[in-house]
Amino acid sequence: MRVDTLKSFKNKFYNDYMEERKIFQGVLDEKSLMSLYSLMNKGVLDMVHGFVKQGKESSVLVGEDKKGRKVAVKVYAIEASDFKNMWPYLHGDERFKNIKRNKRDIVYAWCAKEHQNLFIARRAGVKCPEPLGSLNNVLVMEFIGDELEPAPRLNEVWLEEPEKVFKSVLEDMKRMYRAGLVHGDLSEFNILFWNGEPWIIDMSQGVLLKHPRAQELLERDVKNVVRFFRKYGVETNEDEVTKVVKGGSE
Ligand SMILES: Nc1ncnc2c1ncn2[C@@H]1O[C@H](COP(=O)(O)OP(=O)(O)OP(=O)(O)O)[C@@H](O)[C@H]1O
Ligand SMILES: [Mg+2]
Repeated sequence: MRVDTLKSFKNKFYNDYMEERKIFQGVLDEKSLMSLYSLMNKGVLDMVHGFVKQGKESSVLVGEDKKGRKVAVKVYAIEASDFKNMWPYLHGDERFKNIKRNKRDIVYAWCAKEHQNLFIARRAGVKCPEPLGSLNNVLVMEFIGDELEPAPRLNEVWLEEPEKVFKSVLEDMKRMYRAGLVHGDLSEFNILFWNGEPWIIDMSQGVLLKHPRAQELLERDVKNVVRFFRKYGVETNEDEVTKVVKGGSE
């Protein structure tokens, strides 16, 4: 990870941050950088240290807020985004019924959707990053990990207590469902493992239960979770998990 630090451009002259922003060149475009700076100006975050992950569709950076708490900053790429794939998850969502069908508006709505979904899930008691603020294609949230590194994903660790972790994931799926939300992209790749507990991330695909595809997406989430934990020998099946998530008994 880069150790260079981009400090808030607040009270700085343009030339100053022109120099500092070199660490982002080629990865973040001008508009994303401006959104990042606006979030700094609003006090949502104070510094950005470098990248946790650089991807085609999104990059995740690590930074800190004014209190020195680490934050994760997810920046959705606009040009390289697969916005055609995003549309079906937005279309039919009453929260985004007025968005225009162009690349930029779709990506901005996608980012706002992740923010809102994290908010709903977190309020419902789900172990997921607390959303701290967002603007355009940039989302700032609680960082899951420690001073040295981000938490690994579930697919990158060996679970000593798979049964316990499974129960915790199930409980969070249930909480989400009760709050009217389906994750829509749940799998071992979007669950971080931290302090012995699973933390659910990457909620941009999440839809409200009223969405026409909600049940289909829930089925897919259930399938992924069952497949993963059965590999550990956890005795479960899709019907049972669906029943629990929808509020049946455990
Ligand atoms: N809040 C967070 N705290 C710590 N690390 C995070 C956080 N959010 C994301 N990450 C890291 O960034 C990676 C990608 O995040 P996320 O899954 O949200 O984005 P993505 O666009 O789906 O990327 P990918 O397609 O690579 O999964 C995660 O696997 C994790 O390593
Ligand atoms: Mg992901």
